[in-house]
Amino acid sequence: MRGVLISFEGIEGCGKTTQAKLLYQYLKERKIPCQLVYEPGSTKIGEKIRKILLDKKNTKMAAKTELFLYLAARAQLLEEIILPSLQEGKVIICDRFSDSTLAYQGGGRNLGLEKVSQINKYATNKLKPHLTILIDIPVALSEERLKKEEKDRLEKEGKEFYEKVRNTFLFLAKRAPKRIKIFNGDKNIEDLHFEIREEVIKFLTKRGVI
Ligand SMILES: Nc1ncnc2c1ncn2[C@@H]1O[C@H](COP(=O)(O)OP(=O)(O)OP(=O)(O)O)[C@@H](O)[C@H]1O
Ligand SMILES: [Mg+2]
Repeated sequence: MRGVLISFEGIEGCGKTTQAKLLYQYLKERKIPCQLVYEPGSTKIGEKIRKILLDKKNTKMAAKTELFLYLAARAQLLEEIILPSLQEGKVIICDRFSDSTLAYQGGGRNLGLEKVSQINKYATNKLKPHLTILIDIPVALSEERLKKEEKDRLEKEGKEFYEKVRNTFLFLAKRAPKRIKIFNGDKNIEDLHFEIREEVIKFLTKRGVI
């Protein structure tokens, strides 16, 4: 496959959506064929699943139900958008992907990294992002940034849960340092964009995309 899959990861409010959009705009300006998607969602079926996952009324959702819903949305995104786009040689920017499942359901919900990783591999046909941008911020900063926004089901979790999620992300990055690059998200949006952009250019050049 000629295309490239780049994922953005990190806890709520770290700046994934902000940075993914800025990177997408930049690649478009450079006339590099690219596509921006987010999880869960970006497909008709995925959007329905997203509604179930974020619905505050779903207080009784079992951890395994949550896991399978995320994987169902991902499997759909993969078949419908990611695989065809990779075949076309596009750069796909994905706002969250498999590492979120490992960090939230594997780490945060204690379902176990190895178990979740196995099931996720089945859902994704073992496709891994070629590059992952992990934006790291302290949990207190995440809370600070999201204070003004109305919280969804997951954002209502406590500090301890997010500490586990953050630490699992950092552990995953330590385990796969070639793929997952850590960025300090506690800096201004433009500066962070330039840092991420530089890493992405380096990566795309190495792969012969640009
Ligand atoms: N580097 C930054 N400095 C200050 N504020 C920021 C920075 N990056 C993003 N923000 C602000 O923090 C809030 C959350 O940012 P954003 O939506 O990009 O985070 P996210 O990681 O996508 O969060 P979520 O996981 O909830 O989707 C927004 O109001 C955004 O404008
Ligand atoms: Mg976001």
